[in-house]
Amino acid sequence: MLTEIIARIFIKDPTVKRHLLKTVSWRIVGSLDTVLLGWFISGQLNIGAKIGGMELVTKMLLYFFHERAWHRISFGIPTRSNKAAQVKRDNASNLFLQNSSISRQQREELNSNRSFTIWLTGLSASGKSTIAAELDNYFFSNGLRSYVIDGDNTRLGINSDLTFSKDDRSENIRRVAEICKLFNEAGTIIIASFISPFEEDRVMAKKIIGAESFIETFVDAGIETCKARDKKGLYKLAEAGKIKDFTGISSPYERPVSPSIHVHTDREPLDNSVNKIIHYLNVHRIVSHQFVLQ
Ligand code: ADX
Repeated sequence: MLTEIIARIFIKDPTVKRHLLKTVSWRIVGSLDTVLLGWFISGQLNIGAKIGGMELVTKMLLYFFHERAWHRISFGIPTRSNKAAQVKRDNASNLFLQNSSISRQQREELNSNRSFTIWLTGLSASGKSTIAAELDNYFFSNGLRSYVIDGDNTRLGINSDLTFSKDDRSENIRRVAEICKLFNEAGTIIIASFISPFEEDRVMAKKIIGAESFIETFVDAGIETCKARDKKGLYKLAEAGKIKDFTGISSPYERPVSPSIHVHTDREPLDNSVNKIIHYLNVHRIVSHQFVLQ
């Protein structure tokens, strides 16, 4: 029974084990010091040993709970981005960019399409995934090489270690933007579907992918519409406090400042939104095919 409880604590939070071990090791060092000091001051080893022995248990308890309390305070702990910046600096002089013998343009010519990223941003249930699927169908049926990268999918795979904190969302966007860039360099059109709620993260994605290849598309639907759709039932859970940092409820969504394309899925039919995007691609000569909605 007791071992089960202890195992449960350790499995839930592995740092408890570390703090227990630190408690014991620090106490041995601390109590030895007390014994020596007591011996030195009183001139009697047994007095030093008595004081050292008496504080052994009380100080252990104090130390352990003090350590657990500090564990909850983030003050002074370097953030993920601070650590990443340090690693980047440390590695910089030992890494050398390798160039491909086949250029992006050659790959684009082979695929008969320019490669770029359509970045769909908007609230959960705003319609990003539906639009992404329609666009993918359009490209595929016109013989263009395209692929959808979606937040739910990448969070089930490469980004499964990330939470929805501001810092982790930023890392989520950085990683997927790097993936978009690789796909684009390989000649593939990417339709990226991410809430990406923070302007600074979208600016970062644009910088990584390259401004000329980044087409920011705001999939705009009011929070009430998204709540009413709520197929996944997440808004209800978020409102009940069962999901924390939920975009639109307990975490902000910063509307794009000047998106290339702005679609309103709460007041126009899906075809209109998709057509708007295709129209933009045609007008800007990014995709030359005539639009045929499947
Ligand atoms: S982002 O904010 O970091 O860009 P991302 O697009 O990858 O988010 O993932 C969003 C998906 O995660 C949503 O479609 C939703 O299904 C799910 N999700 C789970 N928890 C949250 C949350 N706290 N906030 C937003 N979406 C969440």
